[in-house]
Amino acid sequence: MDINFDVIKEASKIYGKTFYILDSKQFEENYNNLLGEFRKIYKNSYIAYSYKTNYTPKLCYMIDKLGGFAEVVSDMEANIALKVGVKPSNIYFNGPYKNINFVEKLLVDGGCVNVDSLKEMNQIVEIANKHKDSILNVGIRMNFDIEDGVVSRFGFDVESQDFLDCIKLINETKNINLKGLHSHFASRDIKYWPNRIKNVCKLIDKHFPNNKFDYIDLGGGLFGNMKDSLKAQFSSYIPTYKEYAESVAIEFKNYFDKKDYKPMLFIEPGSALAGDCMKFVAEVHSIKDVRGKAIATLLGSIYNINPTLNKKNPPISVIANGNKQSFYRNLDFGGFTCIESDYLYRGFEGNLAVGDQILFENVGSYSVVLKPPFILPNFPVLDLSNGIEVIKRQENFDDLFHTYKFDF
Ligand SMILES: Cc1ncc(COP(=O)(O)O)c(C=O)c1O
Repeated sequence: MDINFDVIKEASKIYGKTFYILDSKQFEENYNNLLGEFRKIYKNSYIAYSYKTNYTPKLCYMIDKLGGFAEVVSDMEANIALKVGVKPSNIYFNGPYKNINFVEKLLVDGGCVNVDSLKEMNQIVEIANKHKDSILNVGIRMNFDIEDGVVSRFGFDVESQDFLDCIKLINETKNINLKGLHSHFASRDIKYWPNRIKNVCKLIDKHFPNNKFDYIDLGGGLFGNMKDSLKAQFSSYIPTYKEYAESVAIEFKNYFDKKDYKPMLFIEPGSALAGDCMKFVAEVHSIKDVRGKAIATLLGSIYNINPTLNKKNPPISVIANGNKQSFYRNLDFGGFTCIESDYLYRGFEGNLAVGDQILFENVGSYSVVLKPPFILPNFPVLDLSNGIEVIKRQENFDDLFHTYKFDF
């Protein structure tokens, strides 16, 4: 959705000139488009939204209302889900570390845990023995080679004894239900996607020919929508939602057409849904020339928009605010922190004045959730889709320091 600069100016009068913009309409559109492409091929497809990517409660709430599931990797994230009204049975708990007391509570309440290690499986067997009247739902996170050159550290190596022992423990424990199989790979390049489903089918044939799973989870790791200027900075092709769907869902459908059950096909997008759903507007605080280099300092930092420091220039626009602009060539936008490398954008060419605002696009994934409390508390998050809705207020001193001791 294109954002109207007048609304930004209106919001700036109330909330200051630096803030995040949440585009919840775009989020819903992404959800419907992505899921729609998978459902065109395999009707029983579902989205389990990766909370860690951007756990803004409004987005988590929307996912639930749209019929999606919560993919969480900590009790903190699961508590966000519960707080926005997600039923425990719609929570899928992944990740290499899980608070076992919370695992117990979630399992007894009907949630599902994708087991990551044999230690975790043994702990869940203990929980099962303690709660003989409850059926506990688990999945197994499977780690296999998709030939992307990465040795993932997550889940069970499907060639290992631990994997076989895990299956055995589940089969031997009457009140543990193997509800599904899980996998996730970070490589977004579409050429590795068919290997996800190929391996899953082989593993079902080999280890689970008689199981009837509720879900088979192929994970996240999809690129989202972006402008051509951003696409051009990636070394691999940026696929469409349709291309991702075609790369796995056709084989999924063909495989399960031959079976007497049709599990839910889960995908766990994070970036593909949230990436283009946040923008960041930052005020131009000062402009200077340092030995021939033009530098504008913003009230904003690379840690606001790209704490993973991936060195990409996001799409930007200048919002002129009436001050007399000058033309700049090869200007870099630096941040408010004292870190030399804190640049939000390099090589800008165009008109600019102090007091203007820079609108950065595609800052929705791994941004607000990763922003460190470094030098300044974080800026507000506003949803401008329908008037001005404050999604997160400006952080203040107490938000960050109430956990420290001050009385010495
Ligand atoms: C288990 C799991 N699922 C889904 C995701 C979401 O990944 P992405 O944002 O690349 O889609 C991640 C990201 O780390 C993950 O670890």
